[in-house]
Amino acid sequence: MTFLITAGPTQEPIDPVRYISNRSSGKMGYAIAEAALDAGHDVILISGPVNLAPPRDAKFISVSTSDEMFDAVHQHADSSDICVLCAAVADYKPAQVSPVKIKKCAAQVSLELVPTRDILQSLGLQEDRKFLLVGFAAETDHLEANAAKKLREKNCDIIVANDARIAMETDENELLILFRDGETKKISRSSKKNLARELVKIFRNSQQKV
Ligand code: C5P
Repeated sequence: MTFLITAGPTQEPIDPVRYISNRSSGKMGYAIAEAALDAGHDVILISGPVNLAPPRDAKFISVSTSDEMFDAVHQHADSSDICVLCAAVADYKPAQVSPVKIKKCAAQVSLELVPTRDILQSLGLQEDRKFLLVGFAAETDHLEANAAKKLREKNCDIIVANDARIAMETDENELLILFRDGETKKISRSSKKNLARELVKIFRNSQQKV
């Protein structure tokens, strides 16, 4: 099977030297890519800027902004069997990007932000899709309720929910998996590598039911 995996943060430029981003390390997405390759699958890894070496056997696409990630995902989704959107895409980007460095001044400044396009939701809207669609939800509160809302609103097959305070920038995670039919499955705290192996098995089995 072919896995398309997004990982890492995106960077949304303000001017040529500044950007908005987040603390995503990319470790969960890269671990899923490694686990899928180990299980004999093909992997397209679409990654924002991270400090990790891309898995050797993956088709690797390096992106920076949410718009670049959107385009790369849409280019490869239909030829994939399982799309796992693990990236921490920025929710907002500057309304305008200054072509020159914005000068420092004593006055207060404010930055106008506009929402980025939701890549996961855009795939969920494709009603005739053939691939299994998996999203992630990193939450700090009401984990299950927020994840269930995301599953519905983004029309995914599976949402993998985790506590953002445990998951961000660390090597460990614990997961709650929500399926479209209402089933849930908890995987207790473990290394991202172990969790990735479990996830790949779950995704493969679910794809066979799509
Ligand atoms: O709404 P929220 O950002 O919490 O949703 C998280 C899920 O949606 C993740 O799977 C993430 O990769 C995806 N997402 C996306 N494009 C965005 C925002 C989030 O694909 N612009």
